[in-house]
Amino acid sequence: MAIGLRLSMLLLALITIVSYKPTLQRLQPFPALKNDNLLRAARGDVVDRVPVWVMRQAGRYLPEFQELRKQHDFFTVCRTPELACEVTMQPLRRFDLDASIIFSDILVIPQALGLTVEMHAGVGPVLPQPLSTPEDLKRLTPDGALSRLSYVGDAITMMRHKLDGRVPLIGFTGAPWTLMGYMIEGGGSKTMSKSKAWLTEYPEDSKLLLNLLTDTIVDYLEMQVKSGAQMLQVFESSAEHLSKEEFLVWAVPYLRRIRNDLVDRLTKKGLEVVPITLFAKGAGHSLKEQSDLGYDVIGLDWTVDPREAREQVGPNITLQGNLDPQDMYRDPEELRNLTTEMVHKFGKSRYIANLGHGITPQTPITSMEVLVEAVHQAL
Ligand code: CP3
Repeated sequence: MAIGLRLSMLLLALITIVSYKPTLQRLQPFPALKNDNLLRAARGDVVDRVPVWVMRQAGRYLPEFQELRKQHDFFTVCRTPELACEVTMQPLRRFDLDASIIFSDILVIPQALGLTVEMHAGVGPVLPQPLSTPEDLKRLTPDGALSRLSYVGDAITMMRHKLDGRVPLIGFTGAPWTLMGYMIEGGGSKTMSKSKAWLTEYPEDSKLLLNLLTDTIVDYLEMQVKSGAQMLQVFESSAEHLSKEEFLVWAVPYLRRIRNDLVDRLTKKGLEVVPITLFAKGAGHSLKEQSDLGYDVIGLDWTVDPREAREQVGPNITLQGNLDPQDMYRDPEELRNLTTEMVHKFGKSRYIANLGHGITPQTPITSMEVLVEAVHQAL
């Protein structure tokens, strides 16, 4: 009896220690940052060199990523801090990048809200039971969503320690319209016809959903900052499906609220107000409007001309981008010239070099080397 009691107490103590590990880690101060060019560029301070990182820099173009994915399902990697950190570290071992971005996916929010999300090889994300009508909104479970995302915070905290201050760590989220699209279409879509039909057939329920997503996103980003994210990026990747008028009605108000509510929260709680990037793919028609939303950095896709973008956003916003991911398939000399030309067009101040969208799976490794070196040597 006594032994049984002692054993169960020991077990309880062990469980407590194991489950508190991330919290204990969080209590340790993070290592000092050695290369802060990304954060300086975001704030408009002078940089030693133009910072460069690449959207999807941890991904299928890396053989070591493919190798790890053979052993683990995509969302298992996201949900296991050790694996998420390993994958986040992979591109940093190979390339002289100026930032890391935590390995995760924008679709972890729909998952935390109760929808099933699967990653099918060669297809992409699949949501087998998408939202069909407003009736389905009842299936969403916003209460407790944040606690179901705590593994992202744990991975961020662990990654800050593993990085040892080498470069800043970026956290991220999908934006409301983009997430709404996946939740209604049930996966990627060429036309977004079902989600666009919601906007016209069920405008009030669409607003309800977009506001619910906005609330969850603000909680989620706050949690990422508390966990150690040093910068944040909001991916409005499906902006490309909206006209300018639709973008202003169905994306902009929520993007504005995300930034304002988050900054309010961080300020009130005495937390660091980290720089935030907005990447609205295909919304080059509204750069002026984007620049009024309060974001520190605006990400550009490759269809936008750097000098025209600068004219639109004015001098007090940092621009990020925007080489065409397809240029990574050119021969090294051509790629080097295109990269140098791009950096010259943007200039050294208030600029973060990147591609205009995620790196694609067949990209040769050498192209990453050429890109990073060309950015650093351009100015
Ligand atoms: O940038 C990074 O290195 C961090 C990791 C990251 C992933 N997804 C990993 C991933 C980030 C920032 C994302 C964001 C994301 N996810 C977006 C916004 C950015 C964009 O590309 O527009 C979107 C739309 C998604 C949804 C998503 N996830 C799609 C459409 C796909 C399939 C397409 C593809 O590239 O495979 C994914 C899968 C995914 N997310 C992979 C990775 C590395 C590949 C899947 C695999 O390993 O099997």
